Amino acid sequence: MSLAQLQITSFRNIDSAQLQLSGGLNLIYGLNGSGKTSLLEAIYFLGMGRSFRSHLSQRVIKSDSDQLTLFAQLNLDKGQAKLGLRRHRNGDIEVRLDGNKLQRLSTLAETLPIQVITPESFALLFEGPKARRQFIDWGAFHTDPQFYLAWSNVRRILKQRNQLLKRESSYQEIEYWDRDLIRYTEQVTEIRNQYVHSLNELLTGIIEKFLPQVEVKVSFTRGWDSKTTYSEQLQSQYARDIASGHTGSGAHKADLRLRVGSMPVQDALSRGQLKLLVCALRIAQGKLLKQQINKHSVYLVDDLPSELDAGHRQLLLKQLADTGAQLFVTAIDPAAIVDSLHCPPDRMFHVEQGNVTVIEQPLRE
Ligand SMILES: Nc1ncnc2c1ncn2[C@@H]1O[C@H](COP(=O)(O)OP(=O)(O)O)[C@@H](O)[C@H]1O
Ligand SMILES: [Mg+2]
Repeated sequence: MSLAQLQITSFRNIDSAQLQLSGGLNLIYGLNGSGKTSLLEAIYFLGMGRSFRSHLSQRVIKSDSDQLTLFAQLNLDKGQAKLGLRRHRNGDIEVRLDGNKLQRLSTLAETLPIQVITPESFALLFEGPKARRQFIDWGAFHTDPQFYLAWSNVRRILKQRNQLLKRESSYQEIEYWDRDLIRYTEQVTEIRNQYVHSLNELLTGIIEKFLPQVEVKVSFTRGWDSKTTYSEQLQSQYARDIASGHTGSGAHKADLRLRVGSMPVQDALSRGQLKLLVCALRIAQGKLLKQQINKHSVYLVDDLPSELDAGHRQLLLKQLADTGAQLFVTAIDPAAIVDSLHCPPDRMFHVEQGNVTVIEQPLRE
């Protein structure tokens, strides 16, 4: 999967841009505030229907415009496709794949698996479990067609269950909902567990390259006591759930634990090492997707040089290139990237005040 052509209209400070892209490494450079992150964000928005920077989608629409439009010509495994997205300031969103209106944004995500690596990415290791759950679920979603529906059902039933808890409903009333909740929770947990297991095998090899002296252990915690069935857990925590008004454990509390020896990675590793670990996690996901369903991800890598020395920059670019994925890498100074590569980038773009221009240069092919 890759983008062959991209058109952006009224996205952040980009009024209009039309880019012919390489299926390999696209290097985007420009000064602070020129629109580099906005360009990556536009690709992400086209693939996910939302931003990675702001949960308020209207913020990405150019301030003097009522709507944004994104369009891409895609190279899929089964041929070419045209993907278009229009987002109005009033919240309306319209997505078309080869002219057909898509009813669900999840179909969009399925079409365009995107991985993002930004200076903020290592929040994955610092913040609460939500980001790590989303990390697991990215893989679960892309590799198992059952996952999306099972997880949607868990969330829907939990919402209803929590309303019943707030009304102090009897255990019998709640138990009626629990039957489905247990079934879907077990399904979600099994898929997640399987995914982390498969990822771990690949991850070990990649971490060895990035952090050769460190042994990182990655494990999955499912969100309730490891010795109890979910059914028993729900039963035994009923009084507590009633008191708090919400379901205290379950698939919505699952997490990914990353440790060096007995220490959480955040305490054991430096900032630079944590960044590399996050990169290793994302690269492993891309590689696993290729292995499992023969699909390439698209990598959006923002501000790559920040906090990485030249040697690690080189290593990271090599690992990214080895995934065979299409890469979009931004930097203020292109030399910092070009010097870390064995051959020139496949395509280079300069961004200046929202204008994107291609830099003519000999291509790698
Ligand atoms: N909705 C918007 N409309 C117009 N300009 C915007 C909007 N949102 C952000 N900007 C501007 O876009 C510029 C580009 O930002 P950004 O892509 O983050 O730059 P870079 O990553 O190159 O440093 C910033 O100057 C910002 O103020
Ligand atoms: Mg930026």
